[in-house]
Amino acid sequence: MVAFTLPKNSVIQKKTVRKTIDKEIIGQNIKKIFVYRWNPEKNENPYIEEFHINMDECGPMVLDALITIKNTIDGSLTFRRSCREGICGSCSMNINGTNKLACTQPMSDFKADIHIYPLPHMKVIKDLVPDLKPAYAQYASIEPWLKNEKQGDSTKEHLQTPSQREKLDGTWECILCFCCSTACPSYWWNEDKYLGPATLLQANRWIKDSRDTKTKERLENLDDKFKLYRCHTILNCTMTCPKGLNPGKKIAEIKQEIEKLK
Ligand code: SF4
Ligand code: F3S
Ligand code: FES
Repeated sequence: MVAFTLPKNSVIQKKTVRKTIDKEIIGQNIKKIFVYRWNPEKNENPYIEEFHINMDECGPMVLDALITIKNTIDGSLTFRRSCREGICGSCSMNINGTNKLACTQPMSDFKADIHIYPLPHMKVIKDLVPDLKPAYAQYASIEPWLKNEKQGDSTKEHLQTPSQREKLDGTWECILCFCCSTACPSYWWNEDKYLGPATLLQANRWIKDSRDTKTKERLENLDDKFKLYRCHTILNCTMTCPKGLNPGKKIAEIKQEIEKLK
């Protein structure tokens, strides 16, 4: 369950550290970037660091700014990234109050300064890197792989009709960035028991797969007041998904499928 007061060592310090190369950037096209910093190896609370970026020498996305900071100002800045194309889900973070992928978020969308924090309500490993182990353990709990008792000859394909395949649309595109789960108030309050929208959208993907023969067991496993029914249709998940998916609808579909069993 959620703690209603922050542990002392996670309260953000009032100090704002400013790192910039002022002489070189005066008169240039400057963007101010404020970044959450926390180093577990130092015995101090998190703080906000202010960086100044010359936009004429930086790519257009928020991730480009972070890479520029790391390469030219402070090599210790820590964040995840891989594909830079919105398909790996690594660079999810909270940018100006909304969970987004830094690699697909243009800085030009923000006329004023940019404020960057880790995904909300997760333990922080360092700077912008949240600890995703609990979220991945929940994902593993839905057994996200094809289960087919009639498998028979494993060298043959499991065929689907186009309409069976279409039922997976809106789920297979998920990149497990967890922007949705960490935007969900129900997940904030019960992240240890409620599976959250990312994992439930993935559960829907296997429930709807015509090749899977464990649909009933999957639904029975989810029929739980915490795992599934902590979703109260708040829809922050759908509002925030950077891939334009609708986890709230996918959760509602699971509830409908469970009702059909009864
Ligand atoms: Fe990310 Fe969207 Fe998948 Fe949630 S549903 S994990 S926000 S891609
Ligand atoms: Fe949360 Fe989305 Fe349900 S924000 S309560 S998972 S509709
Ligand atoms: Fe892969 Fe952003 S770096 S989604």
